[in-house]
Amino acid sequence: MLSYDDFFERLALHDLAKHHAHFAQHITQAMSPTRHGDLEHWYQALADLPDLSQSLDVKDTVAVGCDTIDSATRAHIDVALRALIPWRKGPYEVCGIHIDTEWRSDFKWSRVAPHLSPLEGRKVLDIGCGSGYHCWRMYGAGAAWVVGIDPSPRFVVQHRMISHFAPPSPIDVLPLGIEHLPARLNAFDTVFSMGVLYHRSAPFDHLKELRDTIRPGGELVLETLVIEGHEGEVLVPRDRYAQMRNVWFIPSVKALTFWLEKVGFEAVRCVDLNQTSMEEQRTTEWMPSHSLANFLDPDDHNRTIEGYPAPLRAVMIAKRPEAGKKRRHTA
Ligand SMILES: C[S@@+](CC[C@H](N)C(=O)[O-])C[C@H]1O[C@@H](n2cnc3c(N)ncnc32)[C@H](O)[C@@H]1O
Repeated sequence: MLSYDDFFERLALHDLAKHHAHFAQHITQAMSPTRHGDLEHWYQALADLPDLSQSLDVKDTVAVGCDTIDSATRAHIDVALRALIPWRKGPYEVCGIHIDTEWRSDFKWSRVAPHLSPLEGRKVLDIGCGSGYHCWRMYGAGAAWVVGIDPSPRFVVQHRMISHFAPPSPIDVLPLGIEHLPARLNAFDTVFSMGVLYHRSAPFDHLKELRDTIRPGGELVLETLVIEGHEGEVLVPRDRYAQMRNVWFIPSVKALTFWLEKVGFEAVRCVDLNQTSMEEQRTTEWMPSHSLANFLDPDDHNRTIEGYPAPLRAVMIAKRPEAGKKRRHTA
């Protein structure tokens, strides 16, 4: 099992100790080896990693670990990292080994970062953080504490592999979905939900859950698939969308703005619109299955293989009103 002692210490430091038992219960359930057949194997790969001097360099590639190691040690680390394939979000470099992930997640960060209220000293929550790539970028931008949550144990173990080679950092990646967080945390200065909303069948519940994790006056950063269109326009794919099975609601930017205002956010704005490119999402040695090129119509890259508009992503920023301010939402 993984230790979460550092997380629980930080929880107490940040005045959230009353939630200790809640987190402990959900983390234990999520990381039980009975839940995922590969977990024992991944834990072993993690336990077998050599103890080397630690280092961290947060740039577009998040680089950890010293690169002056002998070839046998490098080969050993390479095998351990490859046991966790597919690596989707990155890129990373571990002791000089470049993990060329499916996504160039640095592209997304470069679209998001210029529009954020400064993260310096902030308490940040990244919902659906995957292997935690953006958590490193948030820490690199000065956040005091970054909590990432993701229900996929593979991504949580990937994060542990990267952290193993980095000096202790105030980043906690927890094996939880948003539905496992304590209700009404009202705690985080900035909350990110990137690439999650379209996977939720109840989008208003997701937006309300997001709202309730943020402290009054705090900021939401919502990145999601959108379509071109008017306030009432929303695409609900009949079956798959770009080969993804679990896509529910893809609103227009105007509809999404209205949804955010309806649940009580203010100062809602779209700061970036971007059609996903094959440079940003592609098959690599570290994610050898199909990727964007296989999900688009081969004769028209502006359409998915199912005939829907190709993936267009918006970055929305919104503010949770200050305490005491009249709220327009009811629940
Ligand atoms: C498309 S990826 C986005 C990853 C990252 N946030 C990014 O923008 O690059 C969606 C992530 O959400 C996670 N996820 C799925 N259901 C979730 C839930 N209920 N709560 C939180 N995260 C969830 C998935 O495991 C996956 O890592």
